[in-house]
Amino acid sequence: MPTTTDHRTIADLTAAHRPGQSLEQAFYLRPDIFAADMRLLEDRWSLAGHVSEVAEAGNWIVAELGAQSAIVVRGEDGAVRALANVCRHRGSRVCVEKSGSGAMLTCPYHAWTFRLDGSLRAAREMPTGFDPAAHGLSPLPIKIVGGLIFISFGDAPPPFGAAEAAIAAMTRLYDWENAQIAARKTFEVSANWKLVMENYHECYHCGPSHPEFSVLHALARPNNRTLSSEPDPRTGLADFEAWAPVSDGRETARVMRSALSDGCLTGSRDGRPMAPPMGRAGALWDGCCVFGELGLLSAFLAYADHGLIYRFIPRAGLESEIEVIWLTADESVAGRDYDLEALTWLWDVTSQEDKLIIERNQAGVSSRAYRPGPFSLMEPGTRAYVDRYVTELALAVGKP
Ligand code: FES
Ligand SMILES: [Fe+2]
Repeated sequence: MPTTTDHRTIADLTAAHRPGQSLEQAFYLRPDIFAADMRLLEDRWSLAGHVSEVAEAGNWIVAELGAQSAIVVRGEDGAVRALANVCRHRGSRVCVEKSGSGAMLTCPYHAWTFRLDGSLRAAREMPTGFDPAAHGLSPLPIKIVGGLIFISFGDAPPPFGAAEAAIAAMTRLYDWENAQIAARKTFEVSANWKLVMENYHECYHCGPSHPEFSVLHALARPNNRTLSSEPDPRTGLADFEAWAPVSDGRETARVMRSALSDGCLTGSRDGRPMAPPMGRAGALWDGCCVFGELGLLSAFLAYADHGLIYRFIPRAGLESEIEVIWLTADESVAGRDYDLEALTWLWDVTSQEDKLIIERNQAGVSSRAYRPGPFSLMEPGTRAYVDRYVTELALAVGKP
């Protein structure tokens, strides 16, 4: 386990951070900073999945973040709820698979059963005076925007504010509310979660590290074709970055419309359409894609004929996961309407490349010779991300 000789307090480290420079080594290696990171992330919103995963009453999925685990379940009343995946008897995980379906939730340890709304249904051999009503699964905050399910492990996550409108502009255009999941894949990355996120937020590495992505996306080139800052009359979307900073108490979101290379209409091998169009975007085939993100861990990307959800999951100090979920239009069928291998090719190969470069980055950052280095002109997203992380961590550790 690599260690650091930097033992400054977190407050001193955040105060010493120099904008324009990558983070000090301690941020990537110290267990106390990982623990502080987790508290910060748990209190915020993170992307749990898509509503199509819980389409019917009784469908549930499990969403995890560090040591936390939530059950997202659709009830008999049609409502989608988030419940802490912690039994109210003696604390076992209740749902131990990634997803499932049933009329109730049964703890595997001593078989307490819970209704789909989390209330306790049955517990055997409990003493007189036991109150079932006081032993339901704890509800967690949940927010659904355009089919995307966000949850929080905190008691009072920041309100969405402008973030909701920014995300909804994208999900409405691409009709993500009625999308379905075509595929999902998890990439395990032996690196601190912040190196995963820093990598995701810049395209300086795209040219050297992502030959496939770079052919298709103007973003991979310096001074790439910029889109108008006025909303496109066809899509209603501008090439805009709508930040709603958390420092004023709201959740942070960004939606960015970005040009594909000339002649490219989607993220396929040859840039040509490969699946039925999604929502109004497909009818426009405007040669763009839209990147979106919420908070510090959740991102998504819309092409005209498919979409991607990225769930970034810190597991331990030097262990992270990237879950990639591919979305297609409602009622489209693999093999009939699209080729699944072709659909998943770009972000499968790109994510494998990312895993490799992030792990090499961690190896260097873990070494004694690592020092913070300067960001290039092609890394404004990562610079902003790092500065925002430092600001939010300083606020979080400063709270009583
Ligand atoms: S811990 Fe769940 S029933 Fe005992
Ligand atoms: Fe990448």
